[in-house]
Amino acid sequence: KNIAIIMGGYSSEFEISLKSGNVVYRALSPEKYNLYRIHILKHKWVYVNDDGVEFPVDKNDFSVIVHDQKITFHCVFNAIHGTPGEDGHIQGYLKLLNIPHTSCGMYQAALTFNKRDCLSTLKPYGIKSAESYFLNLNDVVNEDDIVSKVGLPCFVKANKAGSSFGISKVYKKEDIQAAIDVAFKEDDEIIIEAFLDGTEVSVGVISYKGTTTVLPITEIVSDNDFFDYKAKYLGESQEITPARISPDMAKKVSDTAKKIYEVLKMQGFSRSEFIFKNGEPYLLEVNTVPGLTAESILPQQAAAAGISLSALFDNAITEALK
Ligand code: DAL
Ligand code: MG
Repeated sequence: KNIAIIMGGYSSEFEISLKSGNVVYRALSPEKYNLYRIHILKHKWVYVNDDGVEFPVDKNDFSVIVHDQKITFHCVFNAIHGTPGEDGHIQGYLKLLNIPHTSCGMYQAALTFNKRDCLSTLKPYGIKSAESYFLNLNDVVNEDDIVSKVGLPCFVKANKAGSSFGISKVYKKEDIQAAIDVAFKEDDEIIIEAFLDGTEVSVGVISYKGTTTVLPITEIVSDNDFFDYKAKYLGESQEITPARISPDMAKKVSDTAKKIYEVLKMQGFSRSEFIFKNGEPYLLEVNTVPGLTAESILPQQAAAAGISLSALFDNAITEALK
């Protein structure tokens, strides 16, 4: 089978995606699959072979011509974090072309990538989230309103972004505007959330061998003020799997993450982030193209469950082809 591993994307997470995609490329068996690395970049979509030679992708049918031979794909392994791989665009495009892929559907991707809409959709199902305030580009900023709604400190976040790009923790009313300016660099919508002072955990849920499977829970202990970009990627954090939480809390957050997966009718990978407040999990967000390097959280969780990188990625293709 011909498998396209797509990586890159149009957002600030571009380099993280190249890392994830290359890890997937090296972990999948070249005996079992014909593997093609496809870079999806703002200015070009290309297949890149092992010598770094590029061949353009025909967007009409997502094929490539290599030495006069047309190659089409049986399945796409999606390793694009952020837009257009995690927000539904690629999912919709591949659906139109009838090409299976390893992610959730178009609607699920678009919804979960929008923190505001995801949290409010899940609220009626009993999924708790922090008090929040929304801003669109060009909205008048009223710091007093913001502080009276979410308090201080608070988190100012780009509504549709990943890897903590555009996120600031704000302690003083005077610093809100600067944080808003940072967040608007990543997206044209902002969510400002109350600070939740509790243990942060990350819960991977995947379709594994035909069953919705909750992976061992990871506790996030950042060396920094929060789980920011440097904590995530430059080792300035500890990620402890399994999390040091009570069995009761573990069950609550596992059940919540699984419920989210089922309510939203997800497929493929997901990793949801929560903070405990008064013993209850509060949802921060759902990632549908989580980091896939060996050091990334979801692969660590899979490893703790006895699932190797190769088995994890192989399973994703098997599930996608069902
Ligand atoms: N957005 C990053 C890649 C993650 O969720 O792991
Ligand atoms: Mg995220």
